[in-house]
Amino acid sequence: MRVTGQPLTRTLLDWLRETKHLTGTKEGCNEGDCGACTVMVTDADGSRSLNACILLLPQLHGKAVRTVEGISAPDRTPHPVQEAMVKHHGSQCGFCTPGIVVSLAVAHTNGAENFDEQLAGNLCRCTGYAPIIRAAEAAKDAPVPAWMVEDLTALDGLAKTPEPYMPATSDGLAKWYAANPDATLIGGATDVGLWVTKRLQDLPKLAFLNGIEDLKQVDVSDSHIRIGAGVSITDLETLMTAHHPSFAAMLRRYSSVQIRNAATIGGNIANGSPIGDGPPALIALGAVLHLRRGDERREIPLEDFFVEYGKQDRRKGEFVEAISIARQTDDLKCYKLSKRFDQDISAVCGCFYISVEAGKITKVRIAFGGMAGTPHRANHVEKALVGQPWSETTITTARAAFAKDYTPMSDMRASAAYRLEAAQNMLTRYYHESQGTATNVLEVSA
Ligand SMILES: Cc1cc2nc3c(=O)[nH]c(=O)nc-3n(C[C@H](O)[C@H](O)[C@H](O)COP(=O)(O)OP(=O)(O)OC[C@H]3O[C@@H](n4cnc5c(N)ncnc54)[C@H](O)[C@@H]3O)c2cc1C
Ligand code: FES
Ligand code: FES
Repeated sequence: MRVTGQPLTRTLLDWLRETKHLTGTKEGCNEGDCGACTVMVTDADGSRSLNACILLLPQLHGKAVRTVEGISAPDRTPHPVQEAMVKHHGSQCGFCTPGIVVSLAVAHTNGAENFDEQLAGNLCRCTGYAPIIRAAEAAKDAPVPAWMVEDLTALDGLAKTPEPYMPATSDGLAKWYAANPDATLIGGATDVGLWVTKRLQDLPKLAFLNGIEDLKQVDVSDSHIRIGAGVSITDLETLMTAHHPSFAAMLRRYSSVQIRNAATIGGNIANGSPIGDGPPALIALGAVLHLRRGDERREIPLEDFFVEYGKQDRRKGEFVEAISIARQTDDLKCYKLSKRFDQDISAVCGCFYISVEAGKITKVRIAFGGMAGTPHRANHVEKALVGQPWSETTITTARAAFAKDYTPMSDMRASAAYRLEAAQNMLTRYYHESQGTATNVLEVSA
């Protein structure tokens, strides 16, 4: 179908509920946190769950959308997940239920069976998760119903984005953005969507990047890994599982499946947030940022991009094209500290790349989020470590250097003193882990 006459900032949720009167998709938080608005979106890359409340209509160009109304068969035969939710009493007030059913139906379609992870972005406050997880387990072996298979050939006839606000290549974007430097770029809209729904901001000129296939490329050579700015956090997590599993494990705690499916690494860097989870890990890996304006390209160390709070080294009309890291031994450990384990922004995020040879520290790169107005290297701590023996004494001495690197602030997530001590403890934790001590807080035994 072709949707016309809608503002570019119209959310899928509003369009579904107000224009199509498909009110099964619920509005809870309207900011990507609760999952009541979860829909299934399918394209050639497969099916994903996404939050309709912060999805803007142009992001759906060329994709199939299935709402909760389409999870049962056209003759109303329930989906195995729906049957199991009824049988196992997976719903009380029911407000969260449509989102949960859609999340579980997408997981069922994709054969994803870690249901804690699949449901981390779906809040339910009455039923409790045990019956819902029981329902998910009960339905998991049922075959995917034939009606859930999307006929993507129906999308083939759609014209390839002639509109300037939906460039199809990064060359097209570069040309358009150089001529329209005041425009707002949109990757996954997990930040920009909230400017629309919460700040009620007018965004007069937009460019949507999610149709640009070359920005979604990952190139792995013998020496480097180059990650396009449009790569989603989900795809980055898959990539890092093979190269730096500690980074991948941290990304699994980056919000929820729905947000990771939408958010891009380019947006996570370009937004300049001091508490984004991607930059500290990438800085610790020595990442280089690839920026482009028109035909002009430049490369800078990622750490230099973050000048001060709210200010990045990005010129008018310049966009993030890619990020690259060297292929290197996996000496990276990432620690994310937040009040909730899942679906929460970091209070402190510490990433440590420490190489030890013959008992001596030979290479160190440490970067933190949540400790300053920008993601920031721990230069003094690094100096206190490099060349020293890898020992508890070295670690204890180096702990004092954190106060020279960081003057964190107190806010609702953590006090300054807590942040400083937590950062020091992360270094100590790295050391103990390297000595074989189990430090995973999820695996504590009495
Ligand atoms: C519920 C929720 C939970 C979240 N949890 C986390 C979390 O745990 N960890 C975390 O790090 N973040 C979290 N975030 C923040 C958000 O997901 C990230 O910052 C995200 O990576 C932004 O990416 P995006 O593609 O959605 O960016 P968008 O919203 O599309 O854009 C963000 C900014 O970047 C600009 N931009 C986007 N792409 C480019 C580009 N290629 N070049 C130049 N500028 C560009 C945009 O113009 C905008 O200024 C959360 C957000 C929500 C809503
Ligand atoms: S309404 Fe809460 S995530 Fe969309
Ligand atoms: S059943 Fe009430 S919030 Fe989930």
